[in-house]
Amino acid sequence: MSDKAELHYNGNVYQLPIIEGTQNEKALDISRLRGESGLITLDKGFKNTGSTESAITFLNGEEGILKYRGYSIEELADKSSFVEVSYLLIYGELPTAEQLKSFQAEITNHTLVHEDVKSILDGFPSKSHPMGVLSSLVSSLTAFYPMSLDPNRSASEVNGTIIRLLAKLPTLAAWSYKNRMRQPVVYPKNSLDYCSNFLRMMFALPTEEYQINPVVAKALDKLLILHADHEQNCSASTVRIVGSSHASLYTSVSAGIAALWGPLHGGANQAVIEMLENIRRDGGDVEKYVSRAKDKSDSFRLMGFGHRVYKNFDPRATIIKKAADDVLKELGVDDPVLDIAKTLEEIALNDEYFVARGLYPNVDFYSGIIYRALGIPTDMFTVMFAIGRLPGWIAQWKEMRENNEPIGRPRQVYTGYTSRDYVTIDKR
Ligand code: CMC
Repeated sequence: MSDKAELHYNGNVYQLPIIEGTQNEKALDISRLRGESGLITLDKGFKNTGSTESAITFLNGEEGILKYRGYSIEELADKSSFVEVSYLLIYGELPTAEQLKSFQAEITNHTLVHEDVKSILDGFPSKSHPMGVLSSLVSSLTAFYPMSLDPNRSASEVNGTIIRLLAKLPTLAAWSYKNRMRQPVVYPKNSLDYCSNFLRMMFALPTEEYQINPVVAKALDKLLILHADHEQNCSASTVRIVGSSHASLYTSVSAGIAALWGPLHGGANQAVIEMLENIRRDGGDVEKYVSRAKDKSDSFRLMGFGHRVYKNFDPRATIIKKAADDVLKELGVDDPVLDIAKTLEEIALNDEYFVARGLYPNVDFYSGIIYRALGIPTDMFTVMFAIGRLPGWIAQWKEMRENNEPIGRPRQVYTGYTSRDYVTIDKR
């Protein structure tokens, strides 16, 4: 097979090298096309554009395959822990027992945030959405660690920022919730594991002892693993592009949180529960909402359905659906919204509109139901996604910097006026 493709244009032939990945996916390298032919490519939403070569996550949307560093998501969700998966994503290999112990200890050592962060937090109105608060607080960390502003410092200093982020994000996330509830913040307790510590900071009150439910902590850990990376999605691409200007890791991750917030990306988990609640309040007529989703004159979409890359099924959704059943059973929770979700899924999966377009439940369809069963409030769902996605963002940022990638700067096809004469208005 040829390792070049040819483009015939205006009587000339241009050679486009073919790049091949380790899973045989192929790409046309057009990086020299403009210089040679004057042409650029146009691909709105980057639906068919590779922005980088990456060794972190492999995703096959047709076959529903997801692997982190070569390990299947099913196996990792079943056997690993979120901290171990974070190590794998960021450093490329599974840790030895020794490495895992010291990684865990380092994270535990940095869970506390500077006391002055509390005064920033106090400035937010109680109605603030926790995603906005979280993004701002992560960005504010640059003020407490000014050395981090230069990402070209030594690898060990950059690693210090990585550890601090992993350690402090759950603290900042829990505090953003406490701010909304106007409750006193809870400081981290370093004898606890990652998820138990987060749950305690979220839910403990000064008035009573907080008991961690191991079922809840374990389910949360699994959810975080499932969210840990997803190759070049909207927020990961944002982190990489912000970082490509040599902005700090804190700033890049803060931008990633902002990108994740939207309902077409991570914000879908909140939107799904709100949609299911709405259907329930409206009498539970699922067919009506399926019809609305198909009606092109109606802006309503089935939230939690469809994916840019997965066109057969989302492997994360399969694991989460089963986990939702298990968790609800173990916790003895009977959520009527789960029945609505299952009916909706069944109707949509058998409907020509959804089948023809390859629209299936995605990771966010059932995750909100588990978060609810775990006691997580609806507007914190996307924050949970952010905590899960953090190691992925870090790994993407680190890979981009280590590969010395150039600043991200797309081209455009200009469609505005060519030239117009300026007319001075009478400003008197
Ligand atoms: N409900 C109804 N129709 C839909 C939906 C939906 N949820 N999603 C896509 N479509 C239709 C869309 O109208 C279009 O139809 P047509 O070809 O007739 O114009 C076709 O399917 C293709 O849709 P698209 O918007 O061109 O596809 P995309 O790849 O640009 O968008 C998506 C992907 C995830 C943004 C979209 O499916 C969507 O808006 N889903 C709902 C929001 C959601 O659940 N987002 C979470 C994604 S998974 C978590 C994450 O990693 O971010």
